Amino acid sequence: MKTPYDIQFETFTAAGGLYDERHAKLYAEFADNLIADGSYSIIYEGVAHACYTPITIDAAPHLKCYVVAPLAVLPDYQRQGYATRLMEEAEQQLKPDVVFIMGEFHHYGKRYNTPHKVDLPVKSLAPLENWFALALTEGALDGIEESTSSITGPYAEPRIWTHPSEQV
Ligand SMILES: CC(C)(COP(=O)(O)OP(=O)(O)OC[C@H]1O[C@@H](n2cnc3c(N)ncnc32)[C@H](O)[C@@H]1OP(=O)(O)O)[C@@H](O)C(=O)NCCC(=O)NCCS
Repeated sequence: MKTPYDIQFETFTAAGGLYDERHAKLYAEFADNLIADGSYSIIYEGVAHACYTPITIDAAPHLKCYVVAPLAVLPDYQRQGYATRLMEEAEQQLKPDVVFIMGEFHHYGKRYNTPHKVDLPVKSLAPLENWFALALTEGALDGIEESTSSITGPYAEPRIWTHPSEQV
């Protein structure tokens, strides 16, 4: 049975593009650090892994919110719905009001499609159009004007919020 480290490392070693083995090591260690810090961790059918870390919308601290990362699906299993089913399973278990994810529109934009004005929890040059939200509780983000957000632990490290080209 592959560990979260294995799934992250193997996926990002093979990903190509922006990613090389240094990113693979960074994200695999990030996953282990989040798990040690108490983030929720899910391995889906032995081939996909993600962590869900609590994040607070400062203007609405009563909402139960998470941010997903790192997320990896082993190369042979990509584009077959594994990431989507992992997310559905995690959401059933965690029962969040809102889930956030930072990434590419073509990966996440269709599913994480709730308009929002919640800022990143760390100072980052990452474009806000890559910062997606999904309100699982209908209307949870309605009426929340611009808000800061807060996070603690390994995901509060600015490096992880930078562009992959700056991370290694
Ligand atoms: C990105 C990743 C997590 C998606 O997991 P997946 O199981 O392949 O995704 P799913 O099959 O559930 O598809 C989810 C959506 O992403 C899209 N998608 C997935 N891989 C894609 C790709 N390489 N190019 C374009 N779209 C892609 C799917 O078409 C789908 O969109 P749709 O709902 O509009 O049809 C997975 O491919 C992965 O681990 N990739 C390598 C690492 C990486 O590049 N990560 C991106 C940085 S977060």
